[in-house]
Amino acid sequence: PTPLRVALLGCGVVGSSVARLLLSNREALAARVGRPLELAGVAVRRLGRDRADLPAHLFTTDAEELVTRADVVVEVIGGIEPARSLILRAIEHGASVVTANKALLAEDGPTLYAAADAAGVDLYYEASVAGAIPLLRPIRESLAGDDVRRVLGIVNGTTNYVLDKMDSTGAGFSEAVAQAQALGYAEADPTADVEGFDAAAKAAILASLGFHTRVRAADVHREGITEVSAADVAAAAEMGCVVKLLAICELATDPESGAAGVSVRVHPAMIPRTHPLAGVREAFNAVFVEADAAGQLMFYGPGAGGDPTASAVLGDVVAVARHRVVGGLGPRESAYAELPVFPMGRA
Ligand code: HSE
Repeated sequence: PTPLRVALLGCGVVGSSVARLLLSNREALAARVGRPLELAGVAVRRLGRDRADLPAHLFTTDAEELVTRADVVVEVIGGIEPARSLILRAIEHGASVVTANKALLAEDGPTLYAAADAAGVDLYYEASVAGAIPLLRPIRESLAGDDVRRVLGIVNGTTNYVLDKMDSTGAGFSEAVAQAQALGYAEADPTADVEGFDAAAKAAILASLGFHTRVRAADVHREGITEVSAADVAAAAEMGCVVKLLAICELATDPESGAAGVSVRVHPAMIPRTHPLAGVREAFNAVFVEADAAGQLMFYGPGAGGDPTASAVLGDVVAVARHRVVGGLGPRESAYAELPVFPMGRA
């Protein structure tokens, strides 16, 4: 059978894992999809660097051209542009899209959902929140018949690593950040993690999916961990607690108007050591989802890293590729209504 052409945009830590797994699992993936998946090309900013032992002929700097000859486009560049334009161009050309781009989805997801729905193609983004942990698909699909009331958890591995080191070794904030950087968890510029921007983007995506609405990163009340001192962590320990950076998304009612809405926030919180979230160590993530009929569910696992994130990307590639083989489309997010987002304290 004719192969499905997969274009990869970006070949950093996640992209090179995706390419490697796509090639090494070629036969198994073909059997699961019903047609072979062919890596049609890898778009990078500059040629010449040795990446993932991939054949040189696959690389191109012309991402705009590459997306026009693909059935499935995988975007792992990150950031707003050129990722947004390339995804829109891919959709225009009829490709299904898989992205890990939380910043873009949390800023301008509705534009992408509307474009994908209008073109009748899939837009999947499991890897954008909590790395390898199957979390968005359960909320989007498995719980589609239930009513989600609350999504709460640890969605940033870097800050969890930092807070865990402060708790277990007594280290100060800067020292723990330096350790996280040395181990490759934190970026050279850890601002997006420690200031809570990364968690806020993920909270916006979780709230949008969970409550079938549109929450942008800018709507999220955000407080990072830069003000958490060794003394704060020690004081929490005295009280039998640990400090964790939590993302909290809840259905809420405006106490003044009585209007229904959502409350979405990211901030450090003290958690009793007996709570399951307190046992989330190092760079792991864990998220609780509470739904009316299902009750409380917990999702736990590696929230970052090349291979774990690539696992989620490839799961999406298989899902959208199957749709191209047998027909069908994933959920239509463009139909979401807009609920008000209440500031902190209105929940
Ligand atoms: N910087 C993110 C984290 C990577 O530490 O969780 C995964 O999104």
